[in-house]
Amino acid sequence: MIGITRRSLRRGFDRVERGFDKVFGPEWNPFGQLGALGWFLFWIVAVTGIYLFIFFDTGVENACASVEWMTDDQWFHAGVTRSFHRYASDLMVAVMLVHMVREFAHDRYRGARWLSWVTGIPLIWFVYISGITGYWLVWDVLAQYVAVVSTELLDWLPIFGEPIARNFLTPESVSGRFFTLMAFLHIAIPLLLLLAMWIHIQRISGARVKPSRALGGMVLGGLLVVSLAMPATSQGPANLAKIPAEVGIDWFFLPLYPLIDAIPAGFIWGGLALLTIVLFAMPWLPKLNAPRPVEVSLENCNGCARCVEDCPYSAIDLVPRTDGAQALYQVLVNPDHCVACGICVGSCPSSSLFRNQQDLVTGIDLPDFPLTVLRERVIETAAKLEGRARILTIACEHAAGGQAAGRTEGTVVLPCVAMAPPSLIDFLLSRGHVEGVCIAGCAERDCQHRLGVEWTKQRIAGERDPYLRARVPRERVEMIWAGPTEVSRLLHEIEAFRGKLERLPSNKPDVLRAASDPASVLKASES
Ligand code: HEM
Repeated sequence: MIGITRRSLRRGFDRVERGFDKVFGPEWNPFGQLGALGWFLFWIVAVTGIYLFIFFDTGVENACASVEWMTDDQWFHAGVTRSFHRYASDLMVAVMLVHMVREFAHDRYRGARWLSWVTGIPLIWFVYISGITGYWLVWDVLAQYVAVVSTELLDWLPIFGEPIARNFLTPESVSGRFFTLMAFLHIAIPLLLLLAMWIHIQRISGARVKPSRALGGMVLGGLLVVSLAMPATSQGPANLAKIPAEVGIDWFFLPLYPLIDAIPAGFIWGGLALLTIVLFAMPWLPKLNAPRPVEVSLENCNGCARCVEDCPYSAIDLVPRTDGAQALYQVLVNPDHCVACGICVGSCPSSSLFRNQQDLVTGIDLPDFPLTVLRERVIETAAKLEGRARILTIACEHAAGGQAAGRTEGTVVLPCVAMAPPSLIDFLLSRGHVEGVCIAGCAERDCQHRLGVEWTKQRIAGERDPYLRARVPRERVEMIWAGPTEVSRLLHEIEAFRGKLERLPSNKPDVLRAASDPASVLKASES
């Protein structure tokens, strides 16, 4: 059931995101940068909040008047800042919730990734509490409603000696100290949020905390337009002598409030506790049966640290050598962080497919899918291909290539296309196993393993070690980035690539033309 939901959501996201890609392009598409957008919005909210505090009167008597003054008299700076503060906070809620559902849909919350998920849950609480205390501070009619409903809800918990709802029974009972506490919380909780956000990305190397300039600019522009078109306003000063007839609700932060009004507090707390527990338990519902983490072969590791730099999950460290070899360093894998994406295998200089079959042990390898098996598989797959333009597709299991594997000949599926060392392409083409190599990875906006698409592009372009040697004819290498719902586009582009290859001279050396069974091809390629 969970699996079906996840897969349907994944396909749903892919379809919607493709639409965004068409309109905005991957650089502007917010979906691949939701975490970064969350950080960006946090800073907008923090900076605008600090500015507002310069003019805000934290005393209960003058709070509302000071906000009104900012909104009306000083609209051109403080008023606009207020609107920015509100709308950026609203957007942050939306971005956070979509980001959470998306990580679930992409199955990036289980196995070694559990920590990012679990540390995300307090973020939801902190964001909501920050917003609710913010609405309280304005001390208008909405603030009065928020104060009354929140304190009634809090009084259900056996934590306060005296019911705190008493503070909001009459105008005289509103305590300045309680109000100061709210102002304090409205600053303290976002600081806790920032700390929790930092912890949240600790298992991710080079976490993207800045959106692309294009997207950042678009968000700032959008916020400015909304702030000018619909300035944030108050709903008239709070008056505890009167029950507010109608209150405008912020549906991003306060969707539960009308419900809290109608349902006993115990049910609300029960529901929130249950939801939080289920969210915490999700990485183990059911537990991911992940492949075994990568293993290091010290004889083949020279401590070059390429795998350390390429690992998207901070799972590999460089440590002093322990085996007395000449090199100063070796690498050490933290198996709890490794998701077995294989990107490090692709980055290891020892992962050369030109090495003899017997000594094809690389510096770092996946025990469940070692490089020797990958080599055998590509050779066997290539040997079955026929025609003037034989194409071997190296496909990511999470992308269109993985989906299309059963429908296309000549596909070898990997956990990530960056697991394939560039020497694999060189080997396939220079030994004449195929006329063309197609790399079919995730959509550019969204690599399942974060950096696989980027590293592959850089390696092929010769910008990142280990790079594809200059001698490899680039017209025989095609990269197609397509999500799981783009199988037909992928097949179409592979056919177009085939057409292009057919116009090039054949790549079949005589020795291989004669060989037809995989074993002899293997022998020929080793010679
Ligand atoms: C204030 C709200 C949040 C912010 C600012 C935020 C930010 C981020 C960032 C920057 C990343 C790294 C993205 C990358 O470079 O690949 C990330 C990853 C992640 N986030 Fe959040 N996040 C927030 C809330 C949440 C919530 C509520 C959850 C789920 C409960 C969550 C789950 C995850 C997971 C599972 C990953 C890891 C993805 C992976 O391993 O590839 N986040 N988040």
